[in-house]
Amino acid sequence: MPDEAWLQDLARYINPGIARAYSFLGVLSPEVRAEGAFVYDSEGNRYTDMGGGYGVMVHGYLHPRIVARAKAQLDRIALPSRSLPVLEPIALAKRLAEVTPGDLQLSFFCNSGAEANEAALKFSRLRTGRKVFVSTIGAFHGKTFGALSVSGRDLYKDPFRPLLTDVRLVPYGDAKALEAAVDEEVAAVILEPIQGEGGIIVPPDGYLAHARAICDHAGAMLIFDEVQSGMGRTGHYFACEHEQGVVPDFLTVSKALGGGILPLGACVGTRDAMGFLDSMPLIHTSTFGGGGGGGAPLTAAVGCEAIDVMREEDFPGQARRKGALLREGLESLAREFPGVISEVRGRGLMLGLEATREGVGGMLMSELLHRHVLALWTLNNERVLRMIPPVIISEETIAETLGQIREAAAQVALVAEDL
Ligand SMILES: Cc1ncc(COP(=O)(O)O)c(C=O)c1O
Repeated sequence: MPDEAWLQDLARYINPGIARAYSFLGVLSPEVRAEGAFVYDSEGNRYTDMGGGYGVMVHGYLHPRIVARAKAQLDRIALPSRSLPVLEPIALAKRLAEVTPGDLQLSFFCNSGAEANEAALKFSRLRTGRKVFVSTIGAFHGKTFGALSVSGRDLYKDPFRPLLTDVRLVPYGDAKALEAAVDEEVAAVILEPIQGEGGIIVPPDGYLAHARAICDHAGAMLIFDEVQSGMGRTGHYFACEHEQGVVPDFLTVSKALGGGILPLGACVGTRDAMGFLDSMPLIHTSTFGGGGGGGAPLTAAVGCEAIDVMREEDFPGQARRKGALLREGLESLAREFPGVISEVRGRGLMLGLEATREGVGGMLMSELLHRHVLALWTLNNERVLRMIPPVIISEETIAETLGQIREAAAQVALVAEDL
């Protein structure tokens, strides 16, 4: 049992397994403050967050404009009566219609990525009157029952079966397999335009367009889950825009939509896909989320600012430039340490670093932690470390971090053969 009082309380009141993991990794000081790309622990140590708060911190921690907007909104109204309409969610929905591709237009608001996907799945059943969902192996769409049912790793699903039974899983990036799985029984195909937890998998060119054509042919809905890949991170507002002109029926977004300070999610659909709202406006609602007037003033005001900052500070351009820098550095490390890093892949600032073996990846992460660099596992592919830092990270910090990754890789290389 760990000595620190907070670790003991974490074990006693929240999660003993996580407390053990912190103890094992030697994390003995909690984070107490954060700014930009950095978090600080209670001892004053500064960590560079290359995991961007699990993909939430596209804007960085406590972006001054977003914090100011939240404070101003708190002086007026935070949560709504839900009896009268509120303006901020309308303003946010309008912005989402502007920044999402094609004719995506109507927004349902919620508090997380899983909830956004739940909405898209339910709406697809409403729109088509069909039951079956098609998803991909390695996919991650959240851990509520519906979202988990269309996720692609049995480890997280098996203890909860029976989940939704009408789910077909196909290999990601394989248009032929997708075509074979989609027929007139299918309500929707759900895809991440770049698989995140699957190990930062970029699909072959043309895959998303194929998926669109396959769904159109079968009369099925197409859902793009941009919970992790959205909001400028990959070099476009949304990762699906890497294939021009491919528009889903529903696009789900969360994580960075809350500007790095609040939980917020949205399912954005076309007018056609959301046609059921005319006759059933309250068919899918939640207290803190959408339905009726839809959404809350505080989170929606923050969402508006998050989108304005993304546009005005050209997040896609920043992600492309800084992503190229980071990628070049990581690729050079892969050449220098072939026994440690086997591949670097991804787009913009959504990069994955594949270790030669599972144990090697774990050790690299731990060596990075000791050098005060936070990287991320991928939930569904334990050989891959994610580098999804804030888009506002400076080029100097990227250069400094590459130096730290080099030191960590050199250390791991000494023992990689034995792992
Ligand atoms: C692509 C994708 N979809 C959905 C989710 C689930 O989001 P949440 O954890 O907010 O429910 C995640 C979370 O990592 C994700 O990466």
